[in-house]
Amino acid sequence: MSQMRVAAIRNARSCPGSVTIRGWVRTRRDSKAFSFIEINDGSCVGSLQVIADATLPGYEENVLALRTGASVEVTGEVVPSQGGKQKWEVQARVIHLVANADEDYPLQKKGHSMEFLRSIAHLRPRSNLFGAVFRVRSRMAYAIHRFFQEKGFVYVHTPVITASDCEGAGEMFRVTTLDGKQIENGDEDFFGKPTYLTVSGQLEGETFACALSDIYTFGPTFRAENSHTARHAAEFWMVEPEMAFCDLEGDMSLAEEMVVFLVDDALENCADDLGFFGKFVDKGLLERLQLVRESPFERVTYTEAIGILEKSGRDFAYPVEWGLNLQSEHERFLSEEHFRCPVTVYNYPREIKPFYMRRNEDGTTAAAMDLLVPGIGEIVGGSQREERLDVLRTNLAQHDLSEEDYSWYLDLRRYGSVPHAGFGLGFERLLMFVTGVANIRDVIPFPRVPGWAEF
Ligand code: 4AD
Repeated sequence: MSQMRVAAIRNARSCPGSVTIRGWVRTRRDSKAFSFIEINDGSCVGSLQVIADATLPGYEENVLALRTGASVEVTGEVVPSQGGKQKWEVQARVIHLVANADEDYPLQKKGHSMEFLRSIAHLRPRSNLFGAVFRVRSRMAYAIHRFFQEKGFVYVHTPVITASDCEGAGEMFRVTTLDGKQIENGDEDFFGKPTYLTVSGQLEGETFACALSDIYTFGPTFRAENSHTARHAAEFWMVEPEMAFCDLEGDMSLAEEMVVFLVDDALENCADDLGFFGKFVDKGLLERLQLVRESPFERVTYTEAIGILEKSGRDFAYPVEWGLNLQSEHERFLSEEHFRCPVTVYNYPREIKPFYMRRNEDGTTAAAMDLLVPGIGEIVGGSQREERLDVLRTNLAQHDLSEEDYSWYLDLRRYGSVPHAGFGLGFERLLMFVTGVANIRDVIPFPRVPGWAEF
């Protein structure tokens, strides 16, 4: 007899024989002679049906007392199932009630709203939907490492606490041990200067790319932007590769290749969970993912994208004008309606982009790119970096940033500077794309958004 996970039993080709399983009760139904108990242990979206005969020792205390949410250990024989829902079921020999659940267990069988489930984020992983989301999240994290490791990229741990504002947008959380009144006085603070939670590991990543050639970081990043949208979180995970001797073209190609690889991996290794999302969350999901696998991505310059939006005849809420940022509605129009596939927009106006992006020869645009996907809009943002010392200094001055603060960053341009490029993939945005789940709060275990940091 061996201890087995529910997934292994459900997927077994030949009968596993005598097994022990441990998990949580989803439902119990009783007839005169026996009870049906559905047990889930989080290994797959399906549960395992256990049949407990009324003749079992301790039937009353161990079986009839079982409530939804209780934890149990069952030992019994795997037998072919009579019903059509599953191939195998377990005929119990011993049922051990590890701990019962109180009657007010909130995850009873009826459907719950996503808002309610967010308020019980400590219990929601026990639901079918969230079990599936977090299995896919785990698999995608693994696939990201596999993608980069197999290409010889070195994984670098960039700091969470930093003194530099990579994006220059000032949307940072301060890290301090000072209280209220003293806070202005950064010199007396723990690190002797004002420090923040990082918005991106890019700048530190560049230092390693300029030594190890191809690197990536993958970790939590933080933005204190007061965005109440379905695709912004204050704490999210970002994957950031950085490549030495690489230009914008190589950067865009890597981003596209990575998205296809991850979609492929999910279709291959998370088929049951994606099937569940396709049925209950987003009917068009599987078709959309197949399309990504099969059709090449489109590429357009920012200037071409503005032209397409202007000619669309659409009444957008935000203005469309050369020099303004693309808003989510514009990004979604381009990928969902115009191209109907993922699209990379590149060469954005220099004025709306951070100081580190490489200035193009036209003098007005920067070698920047965003990868947009249907249903979400931007999931990747990246650029070729400014590797010319003089141009970078001019950019810093234009952004009112001090050379002193970025002296180490300028050093990279002083000592063997190389063309280099990289990008950031928002990990939760990728998960929204792969699962069809519409709100970023539902693809991260414990979301942090303005006004909400429970658990
Ligand atoms: O476009 P962003 O701001 O780029 C950077 O931070 C660069 N330093 C990355 C680099 O070149 N190494 O962010 C990159 C991606 C976005 O495309 C988006 O997917 C995600 O990070 N992102 C967010 N995801 C969730 N919540 C937020 N508030 C996000 N802000 C950005």
